[in-house]
This record gives sequence, C-alpha cells and structure tokens, in this order.
Amino acid sequence: MKPVTTIFTRSARTAARCILSDELAAFPTETVYGLGANVFSEQALKKIFEAKGRPADNPLIVHISRLDQIGLLTLRIPKSARKIIDTFFPGPITVIVPKRKEISKLVSAGLDTIGIRMPKHETAQEFLRECGVPVAAPSANLSGTPSPTSWMNVRDDLNGKIRCILKGRTTDVGLESTVVDCTGRRPLVLRTGAVTLEALQSVLPETRLYTKKKTRNSHEPAAVKSPGMKYRHYSPKAHVVIVSVKKPPRWVPGVAAAYIGLTPPKEHDATRFAQVLVCHSVDEYARRVFSFFRRCDKKHIQVICCEQVAPDGLGRALMDRITRAAHHD
Ligand code: TXA
Ligand code: MG
Repeated sequence: MKPVTTIFTRSARTAARCILSDELAAFPTETVYGLGANVFSEQALKKIFEAKGRPADNPLIVHISRLDQIGLLTLRIPKSARKIIDTFFPGPITVIVPKRKEISKLVSAGLDTIGIRMPKHETAQEFLRECGVPVAAPSANLSGTPSPTSWMNVRDDLNGKIRCILKGRTTDVGLESTVVDCTGRRPLVLRTGAVTLEALQSVLPETRLYTKKKTRNSHEPAAVKSPGMKYRHYSPKAHVVIVSVKKPPRWVPGVAAAYIGLTPPKEHDATRFAQVLVCHSVDEYARRVFSFFRRCDKKHIQVICCEQVAPDGLGRALMDRITRAAHHD
C-alpha cells in the first residue's frame, strides 16, 4: 500500500471533502470512531479493506444523516426495522435490511442485505450532512485490534494509511452499535450494544439474541449470520482473563498484570497490578475498556484481568466484548 499523508482536522467540512474525492476519513460517533468512504465509490470502498487489513467477506455498516437516505440503500423496510428506526434512530443501533442491487457488493461482502445506522453524535451528524451521501464505515482500527474510542487510537492504527482524521472527543458509549437483523421471521440481535435487548423487547417482544448453532461433530458454527462475529475481535495483545470475587486472579510470578473492573482489588493485590482501573458504573467500564486494553499493550502488560459484570442491559454487551477478547487464542 502506498503511504498517504494524513490530515488531522476539527472541520467536518474538510473531512467531508475527502469523502467526496474518493478518499477515506475517520470520524467520531457516540459508539466508536468510524472509517468512512462514499458508499457510491467502489474505489473508496476498496481502500477501507486495504487500510484496515479487513477480510473481504466482512460487510460494512452504512451511515446516514437523514431518514430519506434509507431509500437509496433499500427498497423494502421490514416492519420490525421500521419500528426500530422510529424508536431508536438516531442512536447506537444498526438495522440489517434487504439491500438495493445498485449498492456495491463490497459493502455487503456479497450478501443481499445491508446494515444501516444513523449516529446521534453531533460531529458525526455534521460530517454526514456535509458528505451528502451515505457513508460506509467500519470501526477505524486495524482488523483485530480493539475498536478506537479516541482520535489518538485511530492515529495509532491508521496514520499514513488514510487521508483524514476528524478529531472529536472520546466516544460516549465505547462499544460498537447493537446490530439487529430484520430480514427474518423475528428480529435477531447479531451484536449487543447500548440499545439493549430489554429496550428492543419493550417495543418488539419477539426479538431474540442470535446464538451460533453448533454442528454435531465440531465446534465450528454451522452458519455464521454476521460474518464479522467469526473474526478475532476486540483483542489486545495481552492475554485477557475474566475474574470475579468468587474467581480471583491467579498470580504467576514475573508476569506483568493489569486489572479493570467495578470492585477495587484487595489492597495487597492492588500493588501487584502494574495498571489498575476501577470504574464507578457499567457505563464507565464499557466506555473505557477498549482504551484500557490499548494502554496495557503499550505498557507491555501480559495479562489483563477483567472483572465479570451481570450480563444484562449494557453489561451484556460489555461481557460479550470481554469474552471475545478472552477467547482470542
Ligand atoms: O458502532 C458501530 O457500529 C461502528 C461505528 C463506526 O458505526 N461500526 C462498526 O463497524 O462497528 P464494524 O464494521 O467494525 O462492525 C460491523 C458489524 C460486523 O460484525 C459485520 O459483520 C456486521 O456488523 N454487519 C454489517 N453488515 C451486515 C450485514 N449485511 N449482515 C450481517 N452483519 C452485518
Ligand atoms: Mg470493527
């Protein structure tokens, strides 16, 4: 890949200009930073996969600033998708609906469906308005590393690989959007997020969590509904272990360890951890976990102990990301 000079800017208009000249621009949203390309530019879409080192069979989410842009992406909005759009847009949620044929297969990774999201974040909205076109955007990290929650995280991964980074503040949610497949008999949550299963079920009681079906003789999933879910994800270089009051960390002499959780570690343990982050709520834990992973990697931490939380509400999404990080080997 030819190196490019990356522009760092606070101007949504400057970043949008890059999009309109078939270049990539990273931008903040309320969930994580996105790496945007004009959905109508085949050339720009290809650059996303090159810059991130992203497998071509992992589809992209398309971001919009106005509801009337939905018609550019799909000709059929299922009832459940309509309900989600009416209730939760703009916000940290993506709906999967049938894709218009005219939209590049690069966006959907060959599927005939498309993910659509309208972020609530002010800077994201301003940027998307300036673009005027829907913007395809995965998270703005190298494939396999934790999603970026600050522009500095984006810089660490993509400086010299993309044309522009729109600088905004640290993201509010810190975990990627809830992804709901609305193309089947009942809505299926493919990825949990800040719009919780409970919130979805309050408007669409038939909503279910997607669980991988296992084939009889192997641990491979028989079908992968959301291709992104089969890749190593959210993983720091360090080994992640899940701990709790009942299952405290096991100390290995000479191993640099870190701790993140809601309960402060016992006094004698606290001094053994090279990095400690005690959060005051599940919201804060979710907001800071990815940047903590990144900080630990910079400090050459070998083991990150993550405290288990109750898997409901946002805790369900947080436990999903931590569990994936813990099982990456
Ligand atoms: O919060 C977010 O969703 C962020 C910001 C930038 O919007 N984006 C993001 O994109 O996390 P990405 O590419 O890192 O994750 C998209 C997820 C992947 O797991 C992908 O497989 C799934 O959504 N996805 C996208 N389109 C899909 C489709 N048509 N069918 C099934 N899954 C889809
Ligand atoms: Mg991602």
